[in-house]
Amino acid sequence: MYRKTYALIDCDILKENIKNIKDNYKYKYYIGVVKANAYGHGDYIVNSLIEGGINYLAASSLEECLNIRKRNKEIPILCLEKIDSDYLDICEKENITITITDMKCFKELDLNKNIKAHIKIDSGMNRLGFKDKNEVKEVYDNLKNSNIKLEGIYTHFGTSGMWDKHYDEAIEKFKEITSLIDLNTIPIVHLSRSLTLVTHPKIDFATGVRLGIVMYGFDQNMKEPEGLRLIKRNRYLKKYNISPISYTNNLKLKTAFSIHSTIMCTKYVKKGEYVGYGAKYTAKEDIKIAIIPIGFADGINKNSSNLTVKINNKEYPIIGEIGMDMITVKIDESIKTKDKVIIFDDVKKRAKELNLSAYCLLTSITNRVPRVYKEKEKYTEIKY
Ligand SMILES: Cc1ncc(COP(=O)(O)O)c(C=O)c1O
Repeated sequence: MYRKTYALIDCDILKENIKNIKDNYKYKYYIGVVKANAYGHGDYIVNSLIEGGINYLAASSLEECLNIRKRNKEIPILCLEKIDSDYLDICEKENITITITDMKCFKELDLNKNIKAHIKIDSGMNRLGFKDKNEVKEVYDNLKNSNIKLEGIYTHFGTSGMWDKHYDEAIEKFKEITSLIDLNTIPIVHLSRSLTLVTHPKIDFATGVRLGIVMYGFDQNMKEPEGLRLIKRNRYLKKYNISPISYTNNLKLKTAFSIHSTIMCTKYVKKGEYVGYGAKYTAKEDIKIAIIPIGFADGINKNSSNLTVKINNKEYPIIGEIGMDMITVKIDESIKTKDKVIIFDDVKKRAKELNLSAYCLLTSITNRVPRVYKEKEKYTEIKY
């Protein structure tokens, strides 16, 4: 690494998170969702996730699945998107499990291929998945006489169901759409994602769960509603007969992701001089500034102006416009060139400050930023 700007990922924390989730929620299959470069953490982490107890992985596209396969030859990987039937040979060779998303997708399959498949059910979100129970039955029956092994069936919840009836309705829809087949013959039945896992009681017929954001350290604990909000909520629950939910859980998770850099140079700015593009910041007094080599091309959000970075354990404000490659920070006399900078190490706080979800913040850090992995005090640098 020549430019000392990088993301640091603590693999030991990720392992502990998974152990903690497994202690609290009992399933046979824990499917680690590692799409979008493992939520920005990088594919390198997959072996740590497996060590922590993940026994299946899932990613969006075939490209993503094949990148993950390079990291581990054994772990089953589910492709969540529809794969063009031209690429089934690759799936067969690389042990990628396909998702059968609809009848057209099924009709295009070569039933002689030795691959595993999961059927996707559309339980209300109107993205991928079957909505018709007769079609599901047709696929189920036809797969029995084929080389394709029906290993799983799943759906994705469009809402958390904490404030609406869609979660309960989705479970009912899933039951209805799968009512003509025997779910007990399908090894992996997986419905929940992070938030629905921790806020609702276990779905009795589910054998697996897809762990995304929770695995990366976001416990999803929430404040219990109070006062008027609580009264409104209880009325709503009663009216729609919504199943019980929990706002808090016993998970003790930590985030494992932080962004670091080093001061490239410092300089003095006189009262009345401006800093950066558009002259958006004018010094109200003589100040000292630091130039730090990270910018919006690295994924630093343009709205980060006025947020702070940490240098020698003290917070200093970012001033002026965020550039493509550089940011400017107002410092004091104690700070000098080559001092280390933490751009952020509290993802939840930074996401909140930027009014973004943690998903958006993590996946917006670009591949220009090398990832450095810490595992048992050993550091490994990867450039994606
Ligand atoms: C189909 C599917 N399952 C699971 C997940 C994981 O979601 P979460 O990170 O909320 O657990 C995603 C993420 O978007 C998804 O698209």
